[in-house]
Amino acid sequence: AGRDLQADFDTKVAAKQRIEPRDWMPEGYRKTLVRQIAQHAHSEIIGMQPEGDWIASAPSLRRKAILLAKVQDEAGHGLYLYAAAETLGVDRAELTERLIEGRQKYSSIFNYPSLTYADVGVIGWLVDGAAICNQVPLCRTSFGPYARAMVRICKEESFHQRQGYELLMRMMEGTESQRRTVQEAVDRWWWPSLMMFGPPDADSPNTRQSLEWGIKIDTNDALRRKFVDMTVPQADKLGVTLPDPELVWNRDSGQYDFGEPDWEEFKQVVSGNGPRNGERVDRRRAAHEKGAWVREAAAAYANKHRKDQEV
Ligand code: 3HC
Repeated sequence: AGRDLQADFDTKVAAKQRIEPRDWMPEGYRKTLVRQIAQHAHSEIIGMQPEGDWIASAPSLRRKAILLAKVQDEAGHGLYLYAAAETLGVDRAELTERLIEGRQKYSSIFNYPSLTYADVGVIGWLVDGAAICNQVPLCRTSFGPYARAMVRICKEESFHQRQGYELLMRMMEGTESQRRTVQEAVDRWWWPSLMMFGPPDADSPNTRQSLEWGIKIDTNDALRRKFVDMTVPQADKLGVTLPDPELVWNRDSGQYDFGEPDWEEFKQVVSGNGPRNGERVDRRRAAHEKGAWVREAAAAYANKHRKDQEV
């Protein structure tokens, strides 16, 4: 019977059929999904911090409303993804504990500081742009709830990317000092955005198995390359330069050649020694503790409501 279940699972994955929560799945498949979806959800929630810091200082009511909407969207992305992870038998409270205790990761990109208002535009343009490159293929990932969450998230992500790019366009039409501020932000966020896609394929322990299970559709390097090819023309149009002296169009391959990110820096950031790791996790822990009374009140109300129903 076990052999048939595995064969049935393999046939479904090979036929690009969705695996649903009640379907039989190898324990490794389930664990990989919990790991990836939970860390994806954590990334969305932690990702609210660098931009959230600028909501009160946005230069106009329009910019404040846009930024508020975007940060709220990220919270919603986190909730869709925690809900997708919970179909695998884990609980978001437990996943939050793992995040706060450093037993689960979140995207390295959010451990960098958002030092000027131009960072809000550059995060929208580069970070959400990279997230789109990584997330569009995930709309076809083999696990149903994850793929369906991605469809909705990708639609909102393209708004995020556009609002960031439009903000930068406005600043680049502004004063010399505004243009310099944009360029300085691009210089700080370019390489960390390339690192978002994960280590090089040769150093990626999970990629091979995730490709076999149809969890990953493309490799880390393939998506990184796709992001560079998509972004260089946008940088040219914006009038900014990208801080990579090896970036050059390769006529033979029809793609850009580019330099290597600093993988030592990446390892440091992923293991908790980035510029803002401590602050990000401390603020997540404080929000969780301060919000405990809200969760208790909601649970008490739900229980009372349930008892009233039972009477
Ligand atoms: N930051 C932190 N950790 C990273 C990382 C990054 N940028 N890239 C890789 N890692 C970790 C992996 O999680 C893995 O550690 P683990 O086994 O403890 O989880 C280890 O480094 C080795 O990497 P692998 O390439 O072997 O791991 P994966 O096969 O899981 O690939 C991934 C990494 C490409 C990030 C993949 O997990 C993925 O596609 N995840 C879903 C996408 C995601 O999480 N995106 C976050 C973007 S932020 C965002 O979307 C917010 C935006 O809306 C602003």
